[in-house]
Amino acid sequence: MSTLQLTGVTRRFGGLTAVDDVTMTIEPGEIVGLIGPNGAGKTTIVNLVTGVFKPSTGTIRFDGRRIDGRKPHQISRLGVARTYQVVQPFPDMTVLENVMAPATFAARAPGVQAARTAAMECLEFVGLAPSQGLLASELTLAGRKRLELAKSLAMHPKVLLLDEVNAGLNPAEIDTALELIRAISARGVTIVIIEHLMKVVLSLCSRILVLHHGALIAEGSPQAITRDERVIRAYLGDRYADRTTAAGGANGHG
Ligand SMILES: Nc1ncnc2c1ncn2[C@@H]1O[C@H](COP(=O)(O)OP(=O)(O)O)[C@@H](O)[C@H]1O
Ligand SMILES: [Mg+2]
Repeated sequence: MSTLQLTGVTRRFGGLTAVDDVTMTIEPGEIVGLIGPNGAGKTTIVNLVTGVFKPSTGTIRFDGRRIDGRKPHQISRLGVARTYQVVQPFPDMTVLENVMAPATFAARAPGVQAARTAAMECLEFVGLAPSQGLLASELTLAGRKRLELAKSLAMHPKVLLLDEVNAGLNPAEIDTALELIRAISARGVTIVIIEHLMKVVLSLCSRILVLHHGALIAEGSPQAITRDERVIRAYLGDRYADRTTAAGGANGHG
């Protein structure tokens, strides 16, 4: 099974410890939220898992195989895909061409036609088929975020790491994105979502991991996380704190 497992992973940049002795296991089929303040180390974890950086110490396994130290293209071929916090389409290529590039890389059948068919299927899935002929630079932000999803889906991922895919979207666009993420999950793709909007995290995730100064400070169900004093202090503040339910939980509602 496609379990993703980090064991004692630390990453230093000079004197800064961006990720500090993180151990976590992501099980097949889960939608896991990775939350924490800016600078907590969330994107660095994505970069470590996808081979952009090597851990300073610790190991990363996928499907039981060591992947730390492998090149990004080798890791993506194993079925680990990601989206970028700052979307980076090729602006002068069309929407379709942007997805054909990863579709060609991941192609199960060779040839331009097969890549085009696979790319179109991804564009239809994310609702961008009508925009296939536009230049990527002509898309709205919401469109570029969906293109980013289509590109990652073209890699046939088993695990998809979503780095703030909803940042900057309006509420209607976020609802559409939520449906899309659920649909991707329903296809059997394991999802790790980095997200600041607690509404999104709470509605999607069965389990939430909380990072603070590079370290994992809490892990649990949405209910448990919103009641965790360390998480409230480090990140949530009082706004999302589930204190009322916490009292109810003690009486057997949890
Ligand atoms: N390539 C890098 N070189 C030096 N420092 C980095 C690099 N990438 C990230 N960092 C630092 O590591 C810390 C964690 O960053 P990041 O993982 O981007 O946080 P998050 O995604 O949670 O906001 C920050 O202090 C950031 O400045
Ligand atoms: Mg980040």
